[in-house]
Order: sequence, then structure tokens, then C-alpha cells
Amino acid sequence: MPLHFKSYLNKPSSYKGGKSLSEVSSDKKIYKLSSNENQFGSSPMAIEAMETSLKTLSLYPDRTDHRLCKALEQFYGSVFSADQFITTNSGVANIEMIMSGFLEEGTECIICNPAFGAYDDFARKFGATVVDVPLVGNDLHLDVDAIFGAINEHTRLIFITSPNNPTGTYIPKDQVDALMSGVPDHVVVVYDEVYFQFADADDYVRGIPYVKEGKNVIGVNSFSKAYGLAALRVGYSYSTPEIARYLRQLQRPFMINAVSMDAAIGALQDHEFISSTVESIHRERDYLYLHFDRLEIDYWKTQANFILIKPTMHIAEFEEKLFRGGIMIRDAGPFGAQDCARITIGTREANQLLIETIESILY
Ligand SMILES: Cc1ncc(COP(=O)(O)O)c(C=O)c1O
Repeated sequence: MPLHFKSYLNKPSSYKGGKSLSEVSSDKKIYKLSSNENQFGSSPMAIEAMETSLKTLSLYPDRTDHRLCKALEQFYGSVFSADQFITTNSGVANIEMIMSGFLEEGTECIICNPAFGAYDDFARKFGATVVDVPLVGNDLHLDVDAIFGAINEHTRLIFITSPNNPTGTYIPKDQVDALMSGVPDHVVVVYDEVYFQFADADDYVRGIPYVKEGKNVIGVNSFSKAYGLAALRVGYSYSTPEIARYLRQLQRPFMINAVSMDAAIGALQDHEFISSTVESIHRERDYLYLHFDRLEIDYWKTQANFILIKPTMHIAEFEEKLFRGGIMIRDAGPFGAQDCARITIGTREANQLLIETIESILY
């Protein structure tokens, strides 16, 4: 008898994540602008907390995530209680946990490409059918009516992302309102807001008010981006008491390692690091806009810590030439943005080199 591999699991993953520096070789200093990491370092308060944590590595961590959830409750000004948070080993692990709670063979999951590659890949690994309702127009906005048209009795999850990866665009409040008011009761909206700290548009909205209203919404967050803790793999989500109770049953004992938990708790208090990171990103975003305009490069205005551009050169060649110049960027094709490159906003030094290199390869 052959082994009983699940057919939908028995295929290579399409979502692989960006290359790490150890995977590439170059005799030059490489600026890694390919994974939307914080180019300004990590929260000092998180590092301090980790240093203390390192002294007790022989002990198991807390059995549950209660301390981190309490810290989140405080961080959110008690808008939610501690048991409305679900912490995981990264944002992607949170997405995977949500999917394991709601998807199986015969169910459907709506995504809106261009989107974060994990949504499509992970949903298929749970045997679900992925229904793509692409973003539309030059401004890549959400097609709310088309989403309503795609919902049926098999639909379980809708993924929306604001600010969105890889486009950097956001979903204005009136569109989120329209979506949330028309989603039927059997469907959960997963609102991925891992880049929320960078958004400064007046009509940007998070998932918080909708969860407060009792809608079936899960707000997904990560410590990898603004807090600069990508290496530690900590993420969390918040939701209604009913959904959070359900998802929390999927957690394992000792799931969050002690160093990561202490770092995350420390990071939540580090308002200064977040403000200085966000300030630097906005300053450097303006610098890049200025030069992209001067060089007549097409790009989308961003609310995140990266920018999607459409260079007038084949993307593989563009990526290769930038790498030879010392800069790693990401081909956004696999995320559904053909012929586009996603570039993390760097330090001034990195951005200057980026602009000089782009200028020399395109002109
Ligand atoms: C939109 C989006 N959601 C979730 C994540 C997951 O982040 P992490 O797994 O590092 O917490 C990412 C990472 O790039 C992302 O871009």
C-alpha cells in the first residue's frame, strides 16, 4: 500500500520568502532592500530585555503567552482584553494558524492580488480553493463589489492587507467600511496590518474599530517590521472574544520562546524607537519620490516601509544589475505585480547608492 500523502500538501511551496544575506555571495557590501526589514536597527528596549532573558536559557519559557497578551492589552489601552490576543512564532505563523482554524478541503479563501505570497500558498496547503479578486485600476484599489460577488457558502476567509505588500498602497476607510458592512456572518475578514505604523494617510484605518463593533475580523500584526525584530519570529493577532477563544485552542504550551517573548514585551514600551523609525522612513520616502520623479520612474505612493516601482527594464536584469551595484531588491512578479520591483526604504546611504545605481543602469 502506498503512503497516504495528502495530495494538496504534496507539492513544493510557492511562497519561499526573500533570500537572506548568507545565501548570496558578493565581494561588496550589500544593502538588503529586499525583505522590508527595519533598516534602522532593532528596538533598544527589546535588546535590553533579551539580555536579561539570556541569563535563564536553561529554563523553559512561560507555558502560555499570558504575559505578552497582558502587555498587548496595556499597549492597546484596554480596548481588548488579554484573551482577545493570539500570539504566534511570527506573522506568517499567525496567518497559518488562522487558516488551520477555518480552511479545509471544500472551503474557499478570497485573496486580492498583488498580495503577500503566503496567503495563496498556505491556503492551498490546507486543501482550500483560492479565489483571487485582483486589485483594480492604476491606484490598485480593492474591488469591494467583486469581493461580494465572489463570496458563496464555501467562503471562509477574506484576506485584505493595508498597507499592502507588495504595492505599498492602503485601503481607505470608506472602502473598508463598505466591505465590513456587507460580509455575511459565516465569513471572517483577516485584516493584515503588519505595516500599520508607517501609514500616515488621514483615512487609513486599522481592524480595531471593526473588532470592537463585534464584526468577524482578525487584525494580524508582527514584531518583524517597525520593531526591527524579524529574526525573533513573533507575531500576534486580535479578534472578537469568540474567534480569539477558538484560535487560542490551537496554541501549543511553551510556544513563544522566552527570549522572543521578553523582547516583544520590551518592544511594546519602546515608543521612541517606533517614532524615530517612522520619521526616518517618511523622510527617506520623500527622498526616493524626489529622485524617482527626476528619473521618470513609475512608482506607487506608499504607506509602508517599501516602494513598488516599474522600471523600464526586464526585472531579472534590473535585479541582477542592482545586486552587482551592492543592492538587493525583490522581483514583485511572484506576488502578482509583473514587471515590478519592491524596494525596502533604506538609510540615506543605501538610498543614495540605490539612486546612483538605478541612474547608471537605466540611462
Ligand atoms: C503583508 C505581510 N503579512 C505578514 C508578514 C509576516 O511577517 P513575519 O512572519 O515576519 O511576522 C509579512 C512579511 O513580509 C507581510 O509582508
